[in-house]
Amino acid sequence: MVTMNCSSHKEAREFGKLPSGETVELYSLKNAKGVEADISTYGGVVVSLKVPDRSGALGDIVLGFDDFNGYLMPPPYFGALIGRYGNRIGHAQFTLDGVTYHLAKNDGDNSLHGGKRGFDKVLWTARPLGPQSLGLTYLSKDGEEGYPGNLSVTVVYTLTDNNELKIDYTATTDKDTVLNLTNHSYFNLAGQGQGDVLAHQITINASRFTPVDKGLIPTGELRAVAGTPFDFRQPHAIGERIGASDEQIVLGGGYDHNFVLDRAGEGLSPAARVTEATSGRVMEVLTTEPAIQFYTGNFLDGAIRGKGGKVYGRRSALCLETQHYPDSPNHPDFPTTELKPGAPYRSTTVFRFSTGS
Ligand code: GLA
Repeated sequence: MVTMNCSSHKEAREFGKLPSGETVELYSLKNAKGVEADISTYGGVVVSLKVPDRSGALGDIVLGFDDFNGYLMPPPYFGALIGRYGNRIGHAQFTLDGVTYHLAKNDGDNSLHGGKRGFDKVLWTARPLGPQSLGLTYLSKDGEEGYPGNLSVTVVYTLTDNNELKIDYTATTDKDTVLNLTNHSYFNLAGQGQGDVLAHQITINASRFTPVDKGLIPTGELRAVAGTPFDFRQPHAIGERIGASDEQIVLGGGYDHNFVLDRAGEGLSPAARVTEATSGRVMEVLTTEPAIQFYTGNFLDGAIRGKGGKVYGRRSALCLETQHYPDSPNHPDFPTTELKPGAPYRSTTVFRFSTGS
């Protein structure tokens, strides 16, 4: 890996300061077609992502803040890296190798997105890899947020000339642990702050999803999407069935569910495709992960003013968080999230942008 001093990277600038006095930097990546991504060393946040509409005009399609201090407010996790465990762990505990580990209860009785100070709230070390790629590293100490093992994590963001934002995650541990990394970008393909996403059309390559209880913890069932509002195997407008009386829609306040992907095999596999008619923007999501959390910003309520003073109302964005299933450490039947010394964690997700008619 090529390493450079942060200050020698011409695309880095100061984004803000932490209460501790530490400096947070913002790195701008740009590809040959002018697509731009700004990434913060705090939380590894994708602060902005500018991609063309059908006329070629660039628009910022992720929610976030112009001012760094916005990211210090209570977390909607805008754009952030999530760890050690994306989504929820029931009763904020799990047992591994006969030892029960207790986590912070930061979501009712459950632990959400890594706990009180997850990877979205730590300062990552930048390893600039050129104008189109940025590495971020973080060492999570044994016992941090209750999780075992010294965990060394590297995330590489790359903006390819195919208008893709590629995220490569790797990690190693010195003790058995659990891990489920993701990125929590909130997308609105019409442009951030341009109303709700109910008219966006989405396809999700999943025949099954994991129904949840009232705390949004998977019950353990893998339910067929056929005949339910969760069937996105053909494109549907997000708003078409979001008001349905389906028990799972009601529990989620909309979509806030883990979809089990119909994978083609090993490697990157198509997970979801989103289209927005007015801009013509298309986003495809490919991943090596077995599942994806489709969240429709149901908890946004207009209280947050984001970039350019835009009000972020309910369902003003969608998240597609590639992942293993929530609460896997408590579900031995789910694909395992255990990580052992000597067997590195690897995960890749690609967000590919194009335009259509
Ligand atoms: C995830 C969860 C949601 C919510 C958001 C953050 O998508 O599944 O329930 O917690 O993160 O607000």
